[in-house]
This record gives sequence, C-alpha cells and structure tokens, in this order.
Amino acid sequence: MNNYSTIYEAVGETEGVRRIVEVFYPKVKEHPLLGPLFPEDITPVMDKQALFLSQFFGGPPLYSDQYGHPMMRGRHMPFPITPERAEAWLDCMNRALVDLGMPEELRLFIIERLSAPAHHFINTDD
Ligand code: HEM
Repeated sequence: MNNYSTIYEAVGETEGVRRIVEVFYPKVKEHPLLGPLFPEDITPVMDKQALFLSQFFGGPPLYSDQYGHPMMRGRHMPFPITPERAEAWLDCMNRALVDLGMPEELRLFIIERLSAPAHHFINTDD
C-alpha cells in the first residue's frame, strides 16, 4: 500500500479497478466450478462488479448510488456458493492480479480483504 490510503487509490482508481475486472471475469467464465453460474453475456456483471469493487476498496460509493444497499450475501443466495467455489473465486482474482503485475504486497492485501466476503457468501456445502 505504501503511501496510498485506500486500495482504490493503490490500484489506480476507477481505471485500475476496471482492468482488474476485465482480467478476472474471463478466468471466472473459464473455471469449471464458476463459469456455469454466470450468464452468457457477462458484461452487466462486470459493470456491477467494477462499481462494487471501487466502493469496497475505499473509493466512491458507485454501486450504492445506483443499486442501493449492496446486501451482497443476499444477492448471492440464488447461487450455490460452496467452500470450493469461494476458493476458486479467490484463486481467479489472485491470478488476475498476478497477470496485471500487481506488487506482491498489494496483491496479498487485496486477496486477504476479499477472502472475508468470499467466505461470508458461502451458503451451501454441496
Ligand atoms: C465466493 C464466491 C463467489 C461466487 C461463486 C460468486 C458468484 C456470483 C454470481 C453467480 C453472480 C450473479 C451473476 C448474475 O447476475 O447472473 C454474482 C454477482 C455479483 N458478485 Fe459474486 N460471487 C462470489 C464472490 C463475490 C465476492 C467476494 C464479491 C465482492 C466482494 C462479489 C461481488 C459480486 C457483485 C458486485 C455481483 C453483482 C451483484 C448485482 O447483481 O448487483 N462476488 N456473483
């Protein structure tokens, strides 16, 4: 994080968050445990995720401005989120950050921050 006060600033604000989302979702789509959960056209999910992550990373509340209170666990309830899927999601994110050449310290910090919600969204064992 060095001199930055938020992850949002450290990754390069809105454009940086957008780049993460653009490298992350192709990996999600290709993942055998994750891909089938997502719609054919992933663009709307990418757009929402870019808004949400900007806010989650300490930037402007872009998601809430447009969609109201995130209630992210609730929004994931229609989908079977197993422990394996949570790990797969985090692994796709980790590989996206590696591909983007993110400094290791920042990458590990981001993954640690995201692992809390990822595990919180688990709603089934199978
Ligand atoms: C734990 C593993 C996860 C799985 C398997 C998963 C899966 C999904 C699926 C299937 C959707 C809905 C796609 C659709 O609209 O049809 C979705 C939406 C979304 N996910 Fe996840 N997700 C996971 C973790 C996370 C995490 C950790 C975050 C952020 C911290 C996140 C943020 C979002 C957002 C912002 C949306 C869009 C919500 C909306 O419709 O407004 N997800 N996710």
